[in-house]
Amino acid sequence: MENKRVVSGINPSGSSLHIGNYFGAIKHQIGLQEKMETYYFVADLHALTTVKDKETLQENIKNVVLDYLALGLNPDRCVFFRQSDVPQHSQMAVVLGNYVTYSHMKRMHAFKDKLQKGENEESINMGLFNYPILMAADILLYKPDGVPVGEDQRQHVEIARDIADSFNKAYKKEVLVLPEPMISTETGKIIGTDGTRKMSKSLGNVIEIFADEEIIKKQIMGCFTDPNRLKATDPGTVEGNPVFVFHDLFNEDKAEVEDLKNRYREGRVGDVEVKEKLFAAHQRYFEAAKKKREELTRNPELVQKILRDGANKAIKLASATINEVYETVGIVN
Ligand code: ADP
Ligand code: TRP
Repeated sequence: MENKRVVSGINPSGSSLHIGNYFGAIKHQIGLQEKMETYYFVADLHALTTVKDKETLQENIKNVVLDYLALGLNPDRCVFFRQSDVPQHSQMAVVLGNYVTYSHMKRMHAFKDKLQKGENEESINMGLFNYPILMAADILLYKPDGVPVGEDQRQHVEIARDIADSFNKAYKKEVLVLPEPMISTETGKIIGTDGTRKMSKSLGNVIEIFADEEIIKKQIMGCFTDPNRLKATDPGTVEGNPVFVFHDLFNEDKAEVEDLKNRYREGRVGDVEVKEKLFAAHQRYFEAAKKKREELTRNPELVQKILRDGANKAIKLASATINEVYETVGIVN
């Protein structure tokens, strides 16, 4: 085991996880459990920026906790918790906001994206605007070496580094650690079923992992393919074609994938067959995780215990950092 620590979180702003989350971030995070000290959490306070319905929020949190555990988080190896169970995240955010400027914050993409999507400044809440500060708090509290996330979170890790740096400079002391973003060059940005934008729950171009079979089937059957191929007998392009991107990700029958690609290039296979095989591959790939999720659903006490134990461990580290930060700035009672 390397003597390194990583931290990462998932925002439960949607009802369940998709394959972009899994191949872009979670699979990597799970692999790291064997090698490093890992702190992973459900960023429930972050979800308030978009979810304003109590039942929906509670349901989303419950689902993301179950999804994350079912996909292979091992509570014996990693510290798994809910952000809101560790009050130091909020405390740290209040302090860190003082070490970043308004103009820097205005360049953050989560906020800029909303403006681009036609929202105006009047409709953007301060939770969303401040999102990167809370996220910096989530990260810096644990003094991690790295933050395993997808490409879309790079800017947020970078601002966390900038905040840590300006904090350290203000007090001429290396209190906070500047973590590295850990982003896969191959799978850091998974394309959506629309074939153009990154897969994202807010864009509705996802293939979910644990949704009902009919829903997943619909998501797969509705996936874009080669737009220039009008008939099954036309030769098609495989590279960058989302159905084949997905086959490469989770169809472990590599001979089948090769055969489909060859026939697709030669105009000897229809989209329906390619997609039906993709659906079957999805079922095989996530079968064990689905079983695990069902077991966990039947055992809510165990899930509660995992979260409680995780929060207790996280609080130890987080409170040591916040005490050090308070001490550094001069808030000592
Ligand atoms: P979404 O964009 O669907 O709202 P989140 O922002 O909750 O997803 O992302 C959770 C984690 O999954 C983050 O680490 C994020 O970088 C990663 N992720 C999300 N979508 C993708 C994608 N299409 N490709 C790669 N990683 C992704
Ligand atoms: N912003 C991340 C996302 O949308 C979730 C997140 C919150 C996070 N705090 C974090 C990720 C800290 C890594 C580290 O998915």
